[in-house]
Amino acid sequence: MTTSPHSTDATAVTAIVLAAGAGTRMRSQRAKVLHEIAGRSMLGHALAAVAGAGVHTTVAVVGHDRDQVSAAIAEHDPTIVLAVQHEQNGTGHAVRVALEALGAPVTGTVVVTYGDVPLLTSQTLAELVVGHRAAGRAVTILSSEVADPAGYGRIVRDRDGSVLAIREHRDASDDELAIREINSGILVVDGPFLDHAVARLRSDNSQGELYLTDIVGTAVAEGRPVGAHVLEDVWQTEGVNDRVQLARLGRELNRRITRHWMAEGVTIVDPATTWIDSAVTLAPDVTLLPGTQLLGATEVGEGATIGPDTTLRNVEVGAGATVERTHGSDAVIGVDATVGPFAYLRPGAELGEGGKIGTFVEVKNSSIGPGAKVPHLSYVGDADIGEGANIGAGTIFANYDGVHKNRSTIGRHAKTSSNNTFVAPVTVGDGAFTGAGATIREDVPPGALAVSAGRQRNMGGWVASKRPGTPSDQAAREAGSATTMEDSGE
Ligand code: UD1
Ligand code: CA
Repeated sequence: MTTSPHSTDATAVTAIVLAAGAGTRMRSQRAKVLHEIAGRSMLGHALAAVAGAGVHTTVAVVGHDRDQVSAAIAEHDPTIVLAVQHEQNGTGHAVRVALEALGAPVTGTVVVTYGDVPLLTSQTLAELVVGHRAAGRAVTILSSEVADPAGYGRIVRDRDGSVLAIREHRDASDDELAIREINSGILVVDGPFLDHAVARLRSDNSQGELYLTDIVGTAVAEGRPVGAHVLEDVWQTEGVNDRVQLARLGRELNRRITRHWMAEGVTIVDPATTWIDSAVTLAPDVTLLPGTQLLGATEVGEGATIGPDTTLRNVEVGAGATVERTHGSDAVIGVDATVGPFAYLRPGAELGEGGKIGTFVEVKNSSIGPGAKVPHLSYVGDADIGEGANIGAGTIFANYDGVHKNRSTIGRHAKTSSNNTFVAPVTVGDGAFTGAGATIREDVPPGALAVSAGRQRNMGGWVASKRPGTPSDQAAREAGSATTMEDSGE
């Protein structure tokens, strides 16, 4: 992709993406085009579509919320040219502003798209450009046939089907209002013709705006060929004005994404409750069980099974792994490893090949080596657990002293017992053991057994002496307990 906005190449394709509108009906602090579906803003989807269609230069027209929108565009792709439309005087005005921002007369072909039309694909745009050039047209409109055309510009054709004009709903006659072929707003235009036609736009219409659509009338009047490409897949041309439409297009995009992955060899038991962001990648023979959400840049290896009821964001899952009823983000799960049910993987959790993070286990910023296991009821924070080690049930890595976080290390093939606390920083050597209930504050040498709880004392007859007459006392007497105190300790 070349990025010069000053290209004079007649085969160059320039995209103008309009994103200056207010989006009042979203009722949001966030700019409308920055609302997300499938883990990407609507504007991000629109920019990805033009980038994938062989576009050389992209100009984005920003206006409302322009600080937010400009920042998002710069982050997405800093080569995109920003054009500021201070007042929204219509789509024709927006394109004028875009052409001015290019700094030189536009050549080649121009594609006009919208920041709030998120399902349009690169393929549709590329086909539109190819068809436009092959037909040698001045303007090609992307149109569609809809059941309810209210609000849209209508495609006005003559008797032999040639396009004559686009008439805005508010400016249309009764006959024109009956037309069900509508203007999606997406257009492909010959660059020099666009420059010429946009300069001649007038605001003598019901909204007092500059209508981009009026370039069609100019082309017809000047005898330049105009055509409309009717797109069967109406979803691709749908815009979003409110959150109901956002959810509707979000569900449809998810339906498309799940279908795509099923075609690639992924089993999705219930596509309706499985949500997959657009940047996720899945290998063949992955199985996704109901209620699974794969978000961000999550990657899942061949044959892994995820779910049910699992949410993973930016998690790398190795081939053959099993992840059941788990919430995870920014974590790595090794090949053939098992996670869950009911596990919580926080950023920096890394589980090695064949390892296990079990039930009610939380792991943060820690590595658990190949074949190592943390099976039950534990918190592992800022720890490195060696290959083949086993961590007992109910273990806490006390990583935080109230001021600093410290790391702890458990050696290879160490076996730590139930209900241990590792007070960081502390190291348990390779092959070492710990006793039940131990609080480990000092390093344990390799091969040693560390015990920290004191020897057990039994105070015989304590219940008879201190809780006389209770059901416990009764039960103890029936079991032949002593009735006077005797202490086994010293
Ligand atoms: C426009 C078309 C109409 C088409 C419809 C499809 C014109 C005159 N009409 O109508 O034929 O059927 O889209 O949805 O083009 N925008 C700006 N700056 C502006 C005005 C608009 O950036 O000054 C952007 C908006 O943010 C929006 C898009 O352009 O994303 C369309 O604007 P909108 O006002 O919704 O167009 P419509 O009047 O619906
Ligand atoms: Ca309008």
